[in-house]
Amino acid sequence: MKLGLFLTAVSADDDRYVAGLLDRLDDAERTRAAHFAFDRDRRTYVVAHALLRHALDLQAGARPWRFVADAYGKPHLDPPCDDIRFSLSHTNGMVAVALAQGQDVGVDVEAAGRDPDEAALASLALAPEEVADLDGFADRRGRLLQLWVAKEALAKAIGEGLSLPLQQVVLRGNPLRVEAMPDGYGAASTWWLRTEWLGTHWLALAAGCAPSDVEWAELSVADLVG
Ligand SMILES: CC(C)(COP(=O)(O)OP(=O)(O)OC[C@H]1O[C@@H](n2cnc3c(N)ncnc32)[C@H](O)[C@@H]1OP(=O)(O)O)[C@@H](O)C(=O)NCCC(=O)NCCS
Repeated sequence: MKLGLFLTAVSADDDRYVAGLLDRLDDAERTRAAHFAFDRDRRTYVVAHALLRHALDLQAGARPWRFVADAYGKPHLDPPCDDIRFSLSHTNGMVAVALAQGQDVGVDVEAAGRDPDEAALASLALAPEEVADLDGFADRRGRLLQLWVAKEALAKAIGEGLSLPLQQVVLRGNPLRVEAMPDGYGAASTWWLRTEWLGTHWLALAAGCAPSDVEWAELSVADLVG
């Protein structure tokens, strides 16, 4: 299984492209875009969904892609096409799309400027082993963000989002590896995880088995305009 990762950095300068990209989205996406209170959130949402369509076009040929969300909110192609699975993430300054055939994937990006509340994160998502390991990292905040993106990417690959019992997912080491999963989620050793520090953001990719290759593409917002 090959995994495609598409990354696009986004700034306020890209607002000149947003109207053009909106034309490429469907009515439901345009309606959601119209309801964001902040331009920043609208911009990253629109770019993420345009990037997803761009990635799907490259994988399977251009067509009017349609999506349906399941009970957990995970979006799927409707109708399905070539067993293509995807995941997307949008945050301040960066959007990411991961694509694979026949294997669920998860991607998450978080801006480094975010200051995680360690106590809140520990009670929501961290295993005791992960909290104990924090003392071994000079950049404690960076480690917290790394753990968080990794858990979100796994949660998206599984499809349960934050309903996954995140404290029972145990991630250790550097590079991070999956040391334990909750009962019923398969052997920890089969889960594949990759985290990357991008200089401004943390990125994580997750899949139920190791890909044979990760094809990494960095595109500008201008690249996505028709
Ligand atoms: C998925 C989730 C972890 C994402 O968090 P986030 O870091 O705030 O945001 P990101 O930008 O990284 O990811 C959002 C994208 O994840 C995808 N997504 C949403 N729910 C998902 C799920 N259960 N599994 C996989 N992907 C999901 C969507 O594509 C969404 O983007 P979109 O709304 O623009 O289409 C979080 O929103 C979540 O847990 N959602 C599920 C909520 C839920 O359980 N709903 C069911 C209620 S019954």
